[in-house]
Amino acid sequence: MSFDITGSFRSGLPSAQSQWNGYPPYSFVGGHNDADAVPFGGLSEAATFVLRREGSSLASYNLGGSPQGYLALREFVASALDSRAATPTDPEEVLITSGSLQALELVNSVLLEPGDCVIVEEATYGGTLSRLAALGVEVFGVALDSDGIRSDHLAEVLADLAVKGRRPKYIYTIPTVQNPTGSVMTVERRLELLVLAREYGVAIFEDDCYADLVFSGSRPPTIRGLDNGGGQVVYCGSFSKSIAPSLRVGYLVADWPMTSQMLSLKTDAGSGALEQMVVAEYASTHFDEHVTHLCSVLKSKCNLMADAIRRDFGDDASFDMPKGGIFIWVTFPEGVDTAALVAPAGAAGVEFNAGAGWSVDPVYGARRMRLCFGHPSAETIDEGIAALADVYRTVTG
Ligand SMILES: Cc1ncc(COP(=O)(O)O)c(C=O)c1O
Repeated sequence: MSFDITGSFRSGLPSAQSQWNGYPPYSFVGGHNDADAVPFGGLSEAATFVLRREGSSLASYNLGGSPQGYLALREFVASALDSRAATPTDPEEVLITSGSLQALELVNSVLLEPGDCVIVEEATYGGTLSRLAALGVEVFGVALDSDGIRSDHLAEVLADLAVKGRRPKYIYTIPTVQNPTGSVMTVERRLELLVLAREYGVAIFEDDCYADLVFSGSRPPTIRGLDNGGGQVVYCGSFSKSIAPSLRVGYLVADWPMTSQMLSLKTDAGSGALEQMVVAEYASTHFDEHVTHLCSVLKSKCNLMADAIRRDFGDDASFDMPKGGIFIWVTFPEGVDTAALVAPAGAAGVEFNAGAGWSVDPVYGARRMRLCFGHPSAETIDEGIAALADVYRTVTG
């Protein structure tokens, strides 16, 4: 009999993954991008150029340079934040990460320990919620409307916590194309958020990975930019949504006390260098043109999905039209539990994200659902939403 390694596993592990069996015919989960919009021609030219020019530097960890990442990429991130989001940035403030998931983990590992609390938007990224739960961190939700975080509710939550002698470690926000609601926080709300964060002495963690996908083509100033060197905001972004998620290239922008501490925790000997070189080479000449094209593709898919939801669910489904990005956040009548639709939808070849995983309050989340329109084709959207609506009618009677 072979050795049973599971007998040596540590305690407290999450449940093991099942073997991957491919995607179902109608997949509306995850944050995948439009396959035809991946600029693989430009990326392959960029790879050739940059490798011919600098390929020998791959011989050294971190390309023989700073552990903060490839300088040309940090320079691009800094100049794009300045020109696209009114956020003057020094490349020395930028730390390249393996996707923004690694950025989330680095920020959490500097700031959080079990028993701490943080404030998040009432609907937020499931990957953030699961990480906070695994760390034993308590999460307080703040109400959202179409302009972003409701400042009146944030003031209430901060005051309540202060009365209890608790200071949240950070306020986590996805202000520009919120995941999952697709809203864009107004500048006024950003300023109000900063005022409250300063008043209560709480850091802001600004996760901006969809910020280049605003359909109108222009993004507001970042909260970090509005803080204007005040040190209140740790910022992260990613090329996952603007170029391709498989690249695993993200970044943090923070002040040196935070960056230097994160660097001491980033013990991976550097994020993948080839993808950093290729993204820098490509993006420094093609980024604006590429995201303009990508946004027009995503906007038309968003319209297709919105039309299909209205056509197939009628008055049972309500949603705000996303201002950008790749998701529609749908609300159903009270009493509907979207988690109960997951198994029958799976049997019909459809997968979606039930709202509970993207919500702080399970009751709020139960009647909501997140649908990704970024990856599926027009035909998949059309047929898949019809199939999902059939399942919905069968289950809800
Ligand atoms: C809000 C948010 N933050 C972070 C991530 C992680 O993205 P990545 O690690 O691919 O940059 C995602 C992915 O969907 C996200 O939606």
